Amino acid sequence: MSYENILVDFQNGISTLTINRPSKLNALNKATIQELHDALDAANKDANTKVIILTGSGEKAFVAGADISEFAHFDVSNGGKLAAKGQELLFDFLENLSTPVIAAVNGFALGGGLELAMACHFRLASDNAKMGLPETSLGVIPGYGGTQRLPQLVGKGRAMEMIMTAGMIDANQAQAYGLVNHVTSPEELLPLAEKIAGKIMRNSSVAIKGAIKAVNANFKDSVDGYQVEIEEFGNCFGTEDFTEGTTAFLEKRKADFPGK
Ligand code: COA
Repeated sequence: MSYENILVDFQNGISTLTINRPSKLNALNKATIQELHDALDAANKDANTKVIILTGSGEKAFVAGADISEFAHFDVSNGGKLAAKGQELLFDFLENLSTPVIAAVNGFALGGGLELAMACHFRLASDNAKMGLPETSLGVIPGYGGTQRLPQLVGKGRAMEMIMTAGMIDANQAQAYGLVNHVTSPEELLPLAEKIAGKIMRNSSVAIKGAIKAVNANFKDSVDGYQVEIEEFGNCFGTEDFTEGTTAFLEKRKADFPGK
């Protein structure tokens, strides 16, 4: 399937989705949000895709935010709908995907761009990346989950400061905050993401799916994460991957997991 604003590349179990609107610094317009949903959904359903990498095209930006030109004239009702639709279609959808998604932050990740990276399961950044939630400088607040996920990742005080100042932090600061796991040169960013994807792919996709669900449950109100862990742990015992993983260990060989 081909898209207007997304490039899809599949190799060795990895689907790399590249947001491709470089003339607008990959800003998320309505069409791109829909296409990202569709491309993520397709990669998630593809049994051969074990890991998804999300990045931006060009050397300047991952994503410079939601497309400001699309909402500048909105009223209260439209503003609320914009956030609700975007969260449901892309940001919550992405966070709850059962296939691991790594954000390779290759430049500006601002507003909706940082929110997109934060909805991924974890993040790597190139050393030229800049991250921030500049929404208050536009007279709005983050609307794609930024007020929730940023404090989860960096702590309340740092999130408050970033949101109130609307400032940017560089990649090293983001790593010190725990917002990104690794920082590397721009040239090494995708190779590093692929190397980490390779380590993930050695393990059971079925078990990883359960782990994503259990870890995410920690951040959901009215869901008992420990109970989700118990259920997901128990479910593993009925899977072919569990039989293969434990048998391979006892037979002192590498596991060859059948599932996704
Ligand atoms: N929405 C719509 N268009 C955007 C955009 C956004 N979030 N971010 C960048 N663009 C567009 C610019 O309008 C410009 O388009 P044009 O060439 O047709 O005028 C193009 O992308 C290049 O951006 P430009 O501002 O010229 O690049 P720069 O290097 O001078 O500045 C940024 C880079 C990231 C600092 C600046 O683009 C910016 O502040 N963007 C908005 C960030 C933001 O507030 N995001 C949160 C939105 S909720």
